[in-house]
Amino acid sequence: MEKKETIQVAVLGAGTVGTGVYKVIQNLQEDMPHKIGSNLVISKILVRDASKKREGIDQTLVTDQWNTIIEDENIDIIIELMGGIEPAKTYITEALKAGKHVVTANKDLIAEHGKELLDLAEENSCDLMFEASVAGGIPILRPLKHCLAGNHMTEVVGIVNGTTNFILSKMTDEGVGFDETLKLAQDLGYAEADPTADVEGLDAARKVAIMASIAFNSRVTFDDVYTEGITEITERDIAYAEDMGCVIKLLGVAKNTAGGIEVRVHPMLINKRHPLASVNDSFNAVFIHGDAIDDAMFYGRGAGELPTASAVVGDVIETARNIQNHCTGKIACTCYKNIPIKPMEEIESCYYVRLRVEDRAGSLASIASVFGNNHVSIEKIVQKNKREEFAEIVVITDLVKEKDIMNSLAILRTMPLVEKISNVIRVY
Ligand code: NAP
Ligand code: HSE
Repeated sequence: MEKKETIQVAVLGAGTVGTGVYKVIQNLQEDMPHKIGSNLVISKILVRDASKKREGIDQTLVTDQWNTIIEDENIDIIIELMGGIEPAKTYITEALKAGKHVVTANKDLIAEHGKELLDLAEENSCDLMFEASVAGGIPILRPLKHCLAGNHMTEVVGIVNGTTNFILSKMTDEGVGFDETLKLAQDLGYAEADPTADVEGLDAARKVAIMASIAFNSRVTFDDVYTEGITEITERDIAYAEDMGCVIKLLGVAKNTAGGIEVRVHPMLINKRHPLASVNDSFNAVFIHGDAIDDAMFYGRGAGELPTASAVVGDVIETARNIQNHCTGKIACTCYKNIPIKPMEEIESCYYVRLRVEDRAGSLASIASVFGNNHVSIEKIVQKNKREEFAEIVVITDLVKEKDIMNSLAILRTMPLVEKISNVIRVY
């Protein structure tokens, strides 16, 4: 079979990940003929501001003109690392229609428009790969699609946002404040251009939607994911969790249950003995359960220049091999089922409820009866601080339905003896 002597790629974006991809590809020049049977050359780099000085990057490759890339017939692979929906979606669509293969790290786009783009790739016999869109450098999408294809997967639970894990780890281990730690995560290149996506859980929600779609062979989009971020987590919650032998992590949870697919992102107390509890700093991990493999966990760097570039370049090499072997477009969209999404009110979890109540005889009994009347069984109650006429108590529930805990909280909020419900966090 005829093979190309050179495979040409264009990189869209020269920010954190684009720069990493440039470095990794330069670093592999001598290996490429052995890995893909040809040279691999970056022939253009698209940016917004072509006049900006970019250290270490060959300035002659830099352009702000998309048409010079899409009209270049010699470019085989487009590596999209700009982020956001537009113009990334338009450029990827044009690239696939022109028969160019695409590698992207863009979870925003894949979590919302994955099906449409995968269908377009299939129509044009092109590869569309997006390993770096979930958990940075950790291989998780290809393992789910390939190595674990012999399973019915029932659970995918992960720490899939490096920024929030970095913030929670620093708050837990070093008592560093939220704002200071977020600034550090931004300086290290972990955070999204708008870090709201990280701290409000939106970035993790996109990743969980992508993983759930592949794990359960049924399309889950960003809008399906119930999302809460970490901005309400305080040092007090972290201290209570510590006393209970737990840490607080932002978890993405996807479960394929008899009642449909559960898919959610929110902070959770997790027992320190669970392997996810010891995943710290910007590290990510994904814990999966399948009917054949049982439990397995994937761990590594979930963000940053070179770890993310590792996943992107892995996809580029895979695509280049497919080009050389004339087998591009061989794996289309794997969502062949249509499983409904389970409403959030129906999910079951244990809950941590921290509240301030009047410090008088009967307070605890009144609160316990509200929970009891709403089918919420209590596992334990902790009372630590008495401040003035109020006492702070923490209630840990047994496994209960979300709608029952929400009904209980709605009643508690109306009771004069409850000064405030300070926080409600699910327990893994
Ligand atoms: P970034 O540092 O903000 O870089 C974005 C780059 O894209 C910049 O070079 C920018 O050009 C260019 N760009 C943006 N809009 C453009 C447009 N309309 N036309 C041409 N160029 C444009 O972003 P990043 O952190 O590298 O992230 C890139 C992608 O990777 C995103 O989808 C992100 O979610 C994903 N990702 C990031 C990480 C991470 O650790 N950072 C990890 C996994 C996945 P200028 O330089 O001229 O502004
Ligand atoms: N902002 C993301 C994070 C980058 O912090 O995990 C990786 O997708």
